[in-house]
This record gives sequence, C-alpha cells and structure tokens, in this order.
Amino acid sequence: MDKRTKLIMSQVMLPSQANVAGNVHGGEIMKLMDTAAGAVAKKYARCNVVTARVDELQFHLPIFVGALVTLTATIAYVGRTSMEVIVNVDVEDLESDSEPKRALSSYFTMVALDKAGKPRALPQLQLETEEEKNLYEEVKRRRDKLKCSCNPEN
Ligand SMILES: CC(C)(COP(=O)(O)OP(=O)(O)OC[C@H]1O[C@@H](n2cnc3c(N)ncnc32)[C@H](O)[C@@H]1OP(=O)(O)O)[C@@H](O)C(=O)NCCC(=O)NCCS
Repeated sequence: MDKRTKLIMSQVMLPSQANVAGNVHGGEIMKLMDTAAGAVAKKYARCNVVTARVDELQFHLPIFVGALVTLTATIAYVGRTSMEVIVNVDVEDLESDSEPKRALSSYFTMVALDKAGKPRALPQLQLETEEEKNLYEEVKRRRDKLKCSCNPEN
C-alpha cells in the first residue's frame, strides 16, 4: 500500500470539547475529521489543499469525555486535481475491555492547489490490493452519481 494515502490520528476527549452532560460537541469531531482529511491529502499532494465538499457525514454513536478517538483518513480516489478521502472515527472506552466502535464516517473532497491558488494536477493513484481497487470503484460510482444529480439537464 502507498504509505502516502493513509493517516491515523488519535486523541483523548477533554471536558473543554464537551457539553455539561459530557457529550463531545459534533463540531469538535468534525474539525478533527477535516484536519485528518487535509493532512492525508497534503501528504499525498505535497502542496496546499482545501476542502471542497463534505458528504454523508454520519454520527453513529455518541462520544463522551475521556474516550479515545481514533481517526483514519484514507485517499480512496484521485481525479485530476481532487481527492476523495474517507474519514472514519472509532471510539474506545479506556476504562473497560470493550473494542473500539465506529462513531462517525464521512467523505471529504479535497482539492490540490498551486502557489497561485489554482487547482493543480495530482499524481495518479497506484492501486495495489483488491481492497484498494474495490474502494476506488465504489467511490468513483458515488462521484459519478453526484455529478449526474448536480447536472440540471438530468
Ligand atoms: C475547491 C476550489 C479550489 C475549486 O475551484 P474551481 O475553480 O471550481 O476548480 P475546478 O472547477 O477546476 O475543480 C477542481 C476540482 O475540484 C472538484 N470540485 C470542485 N468543486 C467541487 C465540489 N463542490 N464538490 C466536489 N468536487 C468539486 C472538481 O470536480 C475538480 O476535480 P478534478 O480536477 O479531480 O476533476 C474552489 O471552489 C474553492 O477555493 N473553494 C473554497 C475552498 C475552501 O475555502 N475550503 C475551506 C477551507 S480549507
């Protein structure tokens, strides 16, 4: 696997990130997800990147103060200048023996920019494993569908 297409980031949730009941604010996790997506995109593109779109952001489970949150950002598809990054967030209660569970998931579209702030061409994605190839096809289908539904002639 190309080491530039994956990034893992962990953090213990603090009281300053939560409401009075101890639930971590959604926006705090969304910021971490954007940071992880931006970091893996920059790691791949080796230039400035911006977030162009966020899709299918889902909160599957609540996250509480003290939990260990692990974000995995994976570049699943690369277009000419844009990258589709899947960001998954797993939560782990460090005071029990329970396994980490999927708490959030989303797709981020990141665009590589040149020094003038214009979209810049990216190197082609090297797909090695079956899993990478399947993920690429799945994300490509999702993108093509989005393009169709955005076209007013459809
Ligand atoms: C993202 C941005 C650079 C795109 O600029 P643009 O002039 O529309 O560029 P293009 O039309 O050439 O599109 C560039 C790529 O981005 C993709 N893209 C642009 N807008 C998109 C959107 N809303 N959703 C999905 N993809 C998008 C295009 O499909 C294209 O991909 P490709 O080259 O892989 O085929 C511009 O819209 C922008 O600066 N937006 C604000 C970004 C920002 O400030 N984010 C928050 C802070 S990080």
